[in-house]
Amino acid sequence: MTPERVFRHHMIKEIFEQPRALEATIAPRVSLDKGSIRLEECRLIDEEIRRLHRINIIASGTSRHAGMAGQFMIQDLASIPVDVDYASEFEYRNPLIGPCELAILITQSGETADTTGALREAKKKGSKTIAISNVVGSTIAREADGVLYTRAGKETSIASTKAFTAQMAMLYLFALYNAQARATLHDEQLRAHIRQLLELPGKLERVLESAAHSEELAKRYHGVEDFLFLGRAVHYPVAMDGALKLKEVSYVHAEGYPTGETKHGPNALIDEKLPIVIIMTCDRKDPGSLLRYKKSLNNLKGFKNQGGHVIALATEGDEKVSRLADHTIFIPQAEELISPILEIVPLQLFAYYMAVHRGLDVDRPRNLTKSVTVE
Ligand code: F6R
Repeated sequence: MTPERVFRHHMIKEIFEQPRALEATIAPRVSLDKGSIRLEECRLIDEEIRRLHRINIIASGTSRHAGMAGQFMIQDLASIPVDVDYASEFEYRNPLIGPCELAILITQSGETADTTGALREAKKKGSKTIAISNVVGSTIAREADGVLYTRAGKETSIASTKAFTAQMAMLYLFALYNAQARATLHDEQLRAHIRQLLELPGKLERVLESAAHSEELAKRYHGVEDFLFLGRAVHYPVAMDGALKLKEVSYVHAEGYPTGETKHGPNALIDEKLPIVIIMTCDRKDPGSLLRYKKSLNNLKGFKNQGGHVIALATEGDEKVSRLADHTIFIPQAEELISPILEIVPLQLFAYYMAVHRGLDVDRPRNLTKSVTVE
């Protein structure tokens, strides 16, 4: 028997638990033989799914970033319009929702006050509600009409890592479940997506094998006080979460931005003092992904011309990116909608090692609590 690996902090332990968390969340809900997804726990019958006009995803912090990725998954795979809201802002915009809309509340703890408030508001307006939670029997899980549990196991570190990747996997499953009910994918397409999901834990193991690379980068950059994280489309939420992790555990100012927006302002900041982390993986079989990748390649050239320091996340074997960027972190090839689940991992590792090299209390960052039960 191989001895259990000993970790210095909960955060790094939880980062390394992600392959198991994904497997536990995905495997019981899919059948490759039948080419089907089982999510009856959400208590949504096919007829209701077919009648849906819109889905509102509502969450806070990292859980909202999962929701932003989920928006791409559900819209692309099941053709249902999706809005994403900050739980803390939801009721202020007087959401125009009712029985033809579905509200999905994403929450690791199931106890976040802002998300509980949003759930009650959605119910008051007559919307059906589903919780995606990691804690069985939590307030939001109990109050929602249906619940989908992520099975990431207890998350102790204040920074959310394994719950985030499990939430994205759950949203991908939910998108496929809706696609199945609405017949927006044919059987072979559905099977191909299930296969991608089942391959995730193994691919994530491979990403973890290069943890030392993220540590080297942290050693090199731990004195820097500002970072810019960039991504397009479904990679933008990953940029947002990479920046959030760095802020909360390393106390380094980091901004997440859509890559295409840099020319509308942030370009003025780019010089040799502001490192840029840019996510530019590519699913070459997908023309949309290839097009977005080519645009990001042009952005990368521009940043280098401006003297920028670039850390790129690219698909394994992409020499075009590795020749241009100062550092390249390689991610295994995956379908574009699923790749955020892999891409976030080196960024979690980077934030973790930055905090360690800055001598900080990684698991208990100042001024934060694991579950935010006050508004
Ligand atoms: C960031 C983080 C927070 C939580 C947020 C919502 O790493 O952990 O941003 O994601 O407070 O918490 P839950 O998901 O428990 O509702």
